[in-house]
Amino acid sequence: MTDRKQDAPPFTPSALAGRVALVTGAGSGIGRAIALAFGAAGAAVVVNYHADAGRDEAEEVARGAGRAAIAVKADVADAAAVAALFGQVDATHGRLDVLVNNAGIESPPTPIERYPVEDFDRIIATNLRGAFLCIREAARRMIPARGGRIINISSVHEDLAFPGNAAYAASKGALRMLMRTTALELAPHGITVVNLAPGAIETPINRATLADPSLRTALLAEIPLGRVGRPDEIADAAVFLASDAATYLTATTVFVDGGLMRSTRGL
Ligand code: BGC
Repeated sequence: MTDRKQDAPPFTPSALAGRVALVTGAGSGIGRAIALAFGAAGAAVVVNYHADAGRDEAEEVARGAGRAAIAVKADVADAAAVAALFGQVDATHGRLDVLVNNAGIESPPTPIERYPVEDFDRIIATNLRGAFLCIREAARRMIPARGGRIINISSVHEDLAFPGNAAYAASKGALRMLMRTTALELAPHGITVVNLAPGAIETPINRATLADPSLRTALLAEIPLGRVGRPDEIADAAVFLASDAATYLTATTVFVDGGLMRSTRGL
């Protein structure tokens, strides 16, 4: 069963019918897979991308995600750009049911004593400030609508230390407390907030690690299921979390990591 093919989605085309979903950083990797899976499950998807260089990819994702999908450019770290992005959602659909805070970046592993402050600021700005800005805009719309789903794509590194990647691990750890806190604030309004935490997934963010045979072998040794995950395996969990099957899930993290969090490192 772990080898299910991507062309056989486990959800019906109506699992998210009638819902409007915004997925940030959706031009590639996990965000792309989520946008496509949401479209296949019947949602109207807003495919956010951040740089002109990503426009073609994002437009292709929007075409794949169905007739109602659009691609919208915005750097999630920029408050004015985020306001404009949500304004575009309002103008196009007049509602927002699901926000997926997926946009995230990582820098090459660097020891703390040499870690550039510019990299630290950039990573925190996208991974944490971006999620904060989008949750704030989503809350402003979901509170009057009395409901909504917010799903943050975090990482096993919201809990596991990640030597060489201090800023990334700090951003994901902070995303966990942002999720827990906003989940409690928004629960009385019928809005759920969860983190979806992937392990090692085959995406562009991982390309250098996975292309290096010794790093790949070391990584695989940490994964009880013995393989790297696929973006569609994260997307399936995201469809579940956005669907009526997940109405009682909030203020928690769902790990989709092949067992990585519980690795005993060969003990
Ligand atoms: C990171 C990857 C890493 C994986 C498992 C992810 O959050 O983006 O670079 O391989 O966690 O450590």
